Amino acid sequence: MPASAPATPPPGAARSAAPTDLVVFGGTGDLAMRKLLPALLLCEKDGRLAPTTRIVAVSRDGIGDADYRGKAEAAVADNPSVLRAGAVPAPVLRRFLDRLHHVPLDLDDPGDGWDRLHALLEAAPDYPAGDGAAGEAAADGAPGAPGGRGRVYYLAMPPMLFGRICADLEAHGLAGGESRVVLEKPLGRDLESAREINDAVGAVFSERRTFRIDHYLGKETVQNLLALRFANMFLEPVWNSRWIDHVQITAAETVGVGTRHGYYDRSGAMRDMVQNHLLQLLCLIAMEPPSSFDREAVRDEKVKVLQSLAPLAGDGALHNTARGQYRAGTQGGREVTGYTGEPGADGASSTETFVALEAAVANWRWAGVPFYLRTGKRMARRYSEIVVQFRDVPHPIFPGQGTAHAPNRLVIRLQPEETIRLHMLAKEPGAGELRLRPAPLELSLSDSFAVRSPDAYERLLMDVMNGDPTLFMRRDEVEAAWRWVDPIIGAWQGTDPEPYAPGGTGPRGAHDLLARSGRAWHEGEMNR
Ligand code: BG6
Repeated sequence: MPASAPATPPPGAARSAAPTDLVVFGGTGDLAMRKLLPALLLCEKDGRLAPTTRIVAVSRDGIGDADYRGKAEAAVADNPSVLRAGAVPAPVLRRFLDRLHHVPLDLDDPGDGWDRLHALLEAAPDYPAGDGAAGEAAADGAPGAPGGRGRVYYLAMPPMLFGRICADLEAHGLAGGESRVVLEKPLGRDLESAREINDAVGAVFSERRTFRIDHYLGKETVQNLLALRFANMFLEPVWNSRWIDHVQITAAETVGVGTRHGYYDRSGAMRDMVQNHLLQLLCLIAMEPPSSFDREAVRDEKVKVLQSLAPLAGDGALHNTARGQYRAGTQGGREVTGYTGEPGADGASSTETFVALEAAVANWRWAGVPFYLRTGKRMARRYSEIVVQFRDVPHPIFPGQGTAHAPNRLVIRLQPEETIRLHMLAKEPGAGELRLRPAPLELSLSDSFAVRSPDAYERLLMDVMNGDPTLFMRRDEVEAAWRWVDPIIGAWQGTDPEPYAPGGTGPRGAHDLLARSGRAWHEGEMNR
């Protein structure tokens, strides 16, 4: 079917991706349906997919292209990111669905699955009819598969299968050239397993061709954090222990684990969120200015932060962490089940669904500045934010100022809104006694630029198709993160998580963690 002309990208949209065969292992799974296909459809809508790019789903399901396209159409129809971005014109949806293929392949019993995949990838795309050549010439070329097309294998599968899939790809002559592999987190369950996976993948794909995804790094405000820190002068002089009292990083979710119990129970909040998303945010806050916005320069600085984290183990780990598990109760006026009552649960799990901890970055810039990290499921609201709290003024001069604890705070909200807010004290209007009131200076990224913010996966999928690994995790980063996290998980062995009520702010222990130094979590931000 001839494709209709791609839309003109809106201002601020990422450049077009190079023509690519994007092969998704786990192509009928939750991640593909909920995140990858919607993100790719939005790239299509913005005209960012090269005309001959193909999306090849691989899964055990014995379905053909037509059935897969039907499944994909149903999945994107009510996807929140797609709905938020507005109606998708019918020709755009058709063009997108035409790119999709499905190859049935059971890794344990592959039959002719690998041959079919091979044949499909080796054959030139048979569309679009007219405008393919011009479109491809316009996109940045990425050498890789035959014909100069890029080839990307996205492994949306459990990490213990990564090494095996890579070996199979190689055995079937599919891993050559500049083909790349994308690995979903969590990469292993500890340092040892992460190393094994990295070794197995590395035996087939060089580090340069390996893209370890952490979707938090694709979030717009996260990238804006880099812009805020390194494209503006005013922050750098105060970005250290002399001016900053502490940092808080929160990723709170309202959802429970739902149908993901099988995965989650072996993982828990520490491996699922802290080892990757939260530590990556900490790195971006704490890193030194890189010499350029270059893939290695940025990642070199991030890994130094991970290596500077003061180890937490044994009693120190117990003292500096709080872990919780949500119990049954009401959330938003609705009865919800507890973690141990979720589908697939065995009723006696000690897996944590909440973690709070105090970390220290042991270097000159951050000595003495606590970094508080917190994440949990079934919390009162869904929001992720970073709060950088500055020190109090050394000497209050206004009436009541000494008792109003309102130090400056820089609040970087990643979701649901994308805002950067600097909380200041200002004079309350009026001719009476001079009174101070907190007032924010606010940068709303969506209002200021009037451009739709791409979903994290849109950005990262474009980057991988263009071969840019800057926002992906390098092997040494992942391993440094495990090296810090492993002893904490070790210290928890034999302890039970503290139960917490759904719809609240987590277990008591999380509040005690800050209270002992006279600090508190900034729940106020959550209620705005
Ligand atoms: C994933 C975790 O990496 O991130 C999930 O596996 C979690 O458990 C999700 O729900 C949160 O992502 P976001 O973008 O909704 O904050």
